Amino acid sequence: MSDFKKGLEGIIALESKISYIDGEKGILEYRGYRIEELAKLSYDAVVHLLLHNRIPNIAELDQFSNTIKERRDLDVHTEEVIHFYNFNIEAMDALLTAISHMSHSDPDLNDNSHEANVRKAIRLIAKLPTIVAYFQRIHEGKEIVKPNELLPHCSNFLYMLRGEVPSVLESKIMDVDFILSAEHELNASTFAVRVTASTLSDIHSAIISGIGTLKGVLHGGARLAVMNLLDDIGSVENTEKYIMNLIENKERIMGFGHRVYKVVDPRANIFRDLAKKLAEEKKDMKWFEMGNIIEEVVTRELVEKKGRPIYMNVDFYSGIIYKYLNIPPKLATAIFALGRVTGWLAHALEQYGDNRLIRPRAKYIGEHLELKDLISQVYDDNKEE
Ligand code: COA
Repeated sequence: MSDFKKGLEGIIALESKISYIDGEKGILEYRGYRIEELAKLSYDAVVHLLLHNRIPNIAELDQFSNTIKERRDLDVHTEEVIHFYNFNIEAMDALLTAISHMSHSDPDLNDNSHEANVRKAIRLIAKLPTIVAYFQRIHEGKEIVKPNELLPHCSNFLYMLRGEVPSVLESKIMDVDFILSAEHELNASTFAVRVTASTLSDIHSAIISGIGTLKGVLHGGARLAVMNLLDDIGSVENTEKYIMNLIENKERIMGFGHRVYKVVDPRANIFRDLAKKLAEEKKDMKWFEMGNIIEEVVTRELVEKKGRPIYMNVDFYSGIIYKYLNIPPKLATAIFALGRVTGWLAHALEQYGDNRLIRPRAKYIGEHLELKDLISQVYDDNKEE
């Protein structure tokens, strides 16, 4: 058997044509295109690229966007499910429950062909933002806001969530947020999706595996943790002292460190620029300045003084952006899922297209025992009775 690596670190588990990461140089590409270039496109164009392996032309994009728009509405039963569970569960659990429910009413329920799976994929991408927005509106005791067919995908999500059309910059930022969240090679949730797909289970079940895995604080939960960190710090003046205290107590700074990147996560740089623009538009530099200080202190104390490769990751400035967008902190992970679902679906389709069951081995470190000693003990005990 090959060497054991805790957490499967550095293990190549499969071949893929979906994304490329160079963790030493800070490069991320989807289907061969750099993330910095893709961030200039619309989310719909990136969805097309990930699912169909091609940047669409203008006419194709128009048609593709309309197809997504037409599928945003939820069936009445899924809507009822969200109402029913709303007060007892978190947004990620609402997604799990609603997707499971939706799978039963999907018109392609029993068809696992590639064409049917692509149709299911588009429905999932279209409907997930509606689930999260409805969940939050109901949770706040407000009327749900139906999808607005005049608005693009990400802008419509903010509209359904807040009940008002977002500014041009807010819409662009949401689009970039979904693009940068969409795909990241074989991260934990994508691996979970591929494992489920590799058993030839259905695509809804594969996505449910991804959501369950993304929930954890070491993965999708980090953005919420960044928002909580900012709230706990509270002010620009308190920032340096607070972070120094965390470092002295050997606690983890949320939004920093990465299993693959040993330099700054390229997505974090894009988010930093956008966070600055949004802070200027809102005429409130507080969260952005706090972010700058945290970044300086972590770089000085952990990278420069201790030589640890603990640089900011995707969740850091996106957490700051969410503060400016007034995103309820508890929605942070669910919104990550709304973008990431596209990458999960691309991976599930790739897995189905060239499948081999994913089934690694474990190194057994337990004991080897003789059952017969135990049987005679139990037998003797019984005899005494
Ligand atoms: N702050 C302070 N120290 C950190 C750190 C952070 N954010 N991230 C890692 N480290 C330290 C660990 O304490 C450990 O130190 P040690 O060797 O002295 O024990 C070392 O770096 C390696 O950490 P480890 O957890 O083994 O690395 P990993 O590759 O498994 O971890 C993460 C990757 C993302 C889980 C980790 O960096 C982390 O917990 N970050 C914070 C959560 C976060 O932002 N997650 C989002 C990821 S996109």
